[in-house]
Amino acid sequence: AILGKVVRVGCSKVGKTSLIMSLVSEEFPDEVPLRAEEITIPADVTPERVPTHIVDYSGRTICGIFDPLLSLSLLQANVICIVYSVNNKKSIEKVTSHWIPLINDRTDKDSRLPLILVGNKSDLVEHSSMETILPIMNQYSEIETCVECSAKNLKNISELFYYAQKAVLHPTGPLYCPEEKE
Ligand code: GTP
Ligand code: MG
Repeated sequence: AILGKVVRVGCSKVGKTSLIMSLVSEEFPDEVPLRAEEITIPADVTPERVPTHIVDYSGRTICGIFDPLLSLSLLQANVICIVYSVNNKKSIEKVTSHWIPLINDRTDKDSRLPLILVGNKSDLVEHSSMETILPIMNQYSEIETCVECSAKNLKNISELFYYAQKAVLHPTGPLYCPEEKE
């Protein structure tokens, strides 16, 4: 069986762990640990019938050291979700200044690894971040799709999961941006 391995990276506090917990429990957790346990979602409850393994990563540093498991997880990833917070400009800037270069540096250059940009906390803003995100999507062909969601009100959580599976199974290249089709 194909196992989709989804790894989530992004700055601290953007809501990576909350997103995973919301997906699993279908409700917003009041308190979350730094990292969610690695979980495997069985094929029969996933939209594309692929067992999917989800790996969380904490953006917090401990004594100035980043999570040592990050490099290892990146090497094994089938798709990487880069999570930012729509109400935090800095976390968006870091997508291009930090995360994409880091991912390119730590992953196999010959195989095209799909990336998904995930703008979390859409419940906190009126305006979409797409204006800022579209130029980034145009610049990097490895970005498969982008989605705005909210762990808090569960908006687009299952869609995000679906896009991640789709990116592994049927990589299309750029670009499909659901928010744009209005
Ligand atoms: P690190 O583990 O430090 O990298 O952070 P993280 O990205 O895992 O963020 P975490 O899930 O710990 O969430 C950080 C804070 O944001 C928590 O207080 C969450 O309750 C809050 N939060 C997460 N998602 C949402 C959301 O969709 N909306 C709102 N309003 N708050 C959220
Ligand atoms: Mg976390």
